[in-house]
Order: sequence, then structure tokens, then C-alpha cells
Amino acid sequence: MTKLSSRAYCASMSQLEFTTIILAAGQGTRMKSPLPKVLHPVAGYPMIQRVVNCAKEAGATEVRAVVGYSEKLVRQVLEPLGVGCYKQEKQLGTADAVKSADLESIEGMVLIINGDHPLLEPGHIKRIFEDFKADQADVSVVTSVVKDPGRLGRIVRHMGDLKAIVEVADASAETLKINEVNTGIYVAHAEVLDALLPLIDNHNAQGEFYLTDIIPRAVEEGYTISAIKASPRVAFGVNTQKQLARATKSIFKRKIGELMDEGVVVIDPANTYVEDFVSVGPGTVLYPGTYLRGATQIGSYCVVEPNCSITDSIIGDGVQVRAGSYFEKAEVHKGAIVGPYARLRPEAVIGEEAQIGNFVEVKKATFGKKAKAGHLTYIGDADIGEGTNIGCGTITCNYAVDKKKYRTQIGKNAFIGSDTQFIAPVTIGDNAVIGSGSTITKDVPEGALAVARGKQVIKENYVKTVKSDEENSKDEANSSEKSDTSSDRPTQ
Ligand code: UD1
Ligand code: MG
Repeated sequence: MTKLSSRAYCASMSQLEFTTIILAAGQGTRMKSPLPKVLHPVAGYPMIQRVVNCAKEAGATEVRAVVGYSEKLVRQVLEPLGVGCYKQEKQLGTADAVKSADLESIEGMVLIINGDHPLLEPGHIKRIFEDFKADQADVSVVTSVVKDPGRLGRIVRHMGDLKAIVEVADASAETLKINEVNTGIYVAHAEVLDALLPLIDNHNAQGEFYLTDIIPRAVEEGYTISAIKASPRVAFGVNTQKQLARATKSIFKRKIGELMDEGVVVIDPANTYVEDFVSVGPGTVLYPGTYLRGATQIGSYCVVEPNCSITDSIIGDGVQVRAGSYFEKAEVHKGAIVGPYARLRPEAVIGEEAQIGNFVEVKKATFGKKAKAGHLTYIGDADIGEGTNIGCGTITCNYAVDKKKYRTQIGKNAFIGSDTQFIAPVTIGDNAVIGSGSTITKDVPEGALAVARGKQVIKENYVKTVKSDEENSKDEANSSEKSDTSSDRPTQ
């Protein structure tokens, strides 16, 4: 028997609108980690953030989370996402957790999910609601048939009809053989939850208020219940570090699959890691060990060689990123070559066809078109003009004793000899030449040569003189030693 009027169903069927309650107050003791379980990252994002985004994408008009363990830290992640956090004072069980979410202030359909199900996708939720509406149920539990039911609650049916959900701690050997499990996801009308939750007690092996008991209570109270079957992916919850690693691998695999479908060449998909919001153009080759993170965008026909880490960076078409390079918030324009072993720090802008070589670090600096810094160089707080060549071992000394940073400006087509230091602030004109080993403290005009190093001194026959001096003093020492020993020999 259905207790709700059919008008209520019609209203909620027209458009998918619902409130989500995410349960996230538990510690996750099986993770054996000081970090609350739901904040463990899965492919770059805290697992609960994935659950929140999934619910929103599926159509959740409001997302609430029940928090408790390490509440402050969990709120820090959830509140910026627009999630309302509700405190569960003591972790008395999943039914008590739902009660903490101020049910009276919710209207319409409610989706209850666990914060530890990072593989959940918006499509799964949409399908769950389709079934919920088709079943015309008051409360439904989402189940799944899995190979290894482990510690998940077992779905007990009688003549095919859902009867109860039994936790492992309360299950008989016979019940434990059931491989249809509770995914921990439920859909219900808010008023049904409100009516049934106070009826749940804690008379079970763990002394907890189990949300699973909502099913028998609903039957007793004459509500319509249903079990909605979903894929095993929906049932996958993270309770241990091994499951966390499996979740991460699965999400990276999905993203790499999408990229390959769009024409990205991935040499070794199992060893290439690309986060959700990264884009890569067709024809680009990703070598193993590549880690692309955050809002990184990579153009077409690029090559990213092994073991590069690129975060929040924009890379144009036809760029070669050579092995072992590390970029954060950098911009590399088309046709540039960077690395091997280059480090681009925030606000590094590498111009078209520019070249940044091995062990070069660039920070808050621009390189013009075809400018080069081939080896062992630090360029920070600087502007390097088009076509300028920076020699090996060049350093912009940008940090002064007043703890402020100063800029080095170098014009176009300048030639900077190896082992030059620029004591900023300093400006070098177009086409200027700096002699190797210079310490440049003053501006250099356009087209000038600047040499700022100690003058070379030649001392003819220096080695010979030194040697003969040494020999003379040795001879003197020997002869005095002999006379000393003869005269000072102790008498016996
Ligand atoms: C729960 C279900 C089980 C189901 C499984 C699916 C119950 C009694 N059992 O078991 O049938 O197969 O999920 O993953 O519901 N939480 C709170 N407050 C509490 C207790 C838990 O907020 O007092 C939160 C946890 O942070 C977690 C979620 O509820 O996000 C589930 O709790 P967990 O302890 O992982 O339950 P399971 O043992 O996995
Ligand atoms: Mg769990």
C-alpha cells in the first residue's frame, strides 16, 4: 500500500529534483590513516568531493553532509563546494546519521549515499531514480550482485520480494552465502524518512542504529518498498587502503580510455595518470610515468616524454616536453621544446619555438619567441626577448637583502655568455653581448658588450719559479734535519 498521494508522485516525476544526504561522520578505522576516510584523494580529488559532484551532476538541488569525525577538516573541503554540513554528535550508526541532517526541513525525494563511494557516476543515480519512480515506492534500497560480498550487508528476499538487510555481524552462515548486497544507497520521500527513522532501534550485534532497518520498519508501517538493482561499480565502497588504490586506478583508467577514444596516443595506459579536468589534443603522445593534473590543457601533436609532472599548465600545439620535467601553473607556446629535467614554476611563460634545456628553472619569467636557455640556469622575475640566447650557468639574482624580488629585463637577440649573474634590477638592451663569467650590476645599452670579471693575469715561468723555490727550501730543511739528528741524538 502506498501512503503518499499520487499527486505527490506526479509532481516529483516531472523533473529530476532531489536532496542528497551524504553520510560522512565515520572515521574509517580500517584505513589506518590519521586522515578522515572521506578526504583521502582518489585520482587527485578527495573521495567525498567526487560523491558531491556526482550528486550535483545528476540533478541534486541541495547536498547535505553528515559530519562528525575530524569535522573541521571535512567542513573545510565541503563548505566551499556549497554543501550544508550537519553534525552527528556521536557515531551511533547510519540511521542516527541520517536523522542528524535535519530531515524536517527537506521536501521531496531524498537520495542517501555514503561518502566513501567514489566510483558512483551521475548516470547511476539517474537510473536509480527512474526505477524508484517506476516502482512507485516510498523507500527503495539499491542493491547489487557481486562476486565477493565481503563485509557488505546481505539482501534477504522471500519469494523474490525484499524482506530485510542483514549486516555481517548479525548474519547466519546461510545468510552470509547471499551475494546480493546493500550498496548503502537509498531513495525515499523525505516525510517517509521522517516517519520511519524514529522507529529504528539499536538491538543488534554492534549496538548501532542501522539505516538498513528502515526496510522492515517500512513494511510494518505499510509503506511500499523496493530493491533497485545496480552494477557492482555502484556497490564499490572504499574501506581500506587497497580499495582506495583500486578506486584511483579505475578512475585513471576511465580517463585514459576517454583520451584514447579522442585520438591521444598513450604508450602505456596503465602507467599514465591524467586527472578528470585535464584536456589533451589529438595526436599528442603521452609516454609512461606522465602525470597531468588540475586544469592542465595540452594541445595537439605534442610529445610528453616519460616521468613528467604537469599541473595547472597550458601547453600549445607541437610542444615537446622532454623526460623528467616538472611544470606548475606555466604556459608553453607552440613548437617550444622544454627539458629534459626542466622546472617551470608559476608564471613561467615560454614563447613559441623557444628552448628550455636540462636543469633550467624558470619562475615568473617570460621567454620570447625562439629564445633559448639550454643548460643549468635559473631565470626568475625576468623577461627574455625574442631570439636571445642565455648561456649555461646563468643566474638572475632576483632576491635582495630587503627581502624583495627585482626583475631582470633582457632585450631581443642578446647573447648572454655562460656563468653570468644579473644582479636585479637590471636592463640589458637588444643585441647586447655579455662576456662569460660576468656579474652584471649596471644596465647594458643596446648593441654593447659588457664584461664584468677579474682581468686575467699571466706570470711567465711561474711554475718553474715556484718549483725551484720549493726545492731550495726542501734542501735547506733536509740539511738542518741531518745536523739536528746528529747533534740531538739522545745518549744511551
Ligand atoms: C554500510 C551498511 C551496509 C552496506 C555498506 C555499503 C549499515 C548498518 N550498513 O556498512 O549494509 O553494505 O554500508 O557500503 O548501514 N557513518 C556516519 N555515522 C555513523 C556511522 C557511519 O556518518 O554513525 C557514515 C560513514 O562515515 C560512512 C557511511 O556512513 O560514510 C557508512 O558507514 P560504514 O561504517 O562504512 O558502514 P559499512 O560497514 O560500510
Ligand atoms: Mg563503508
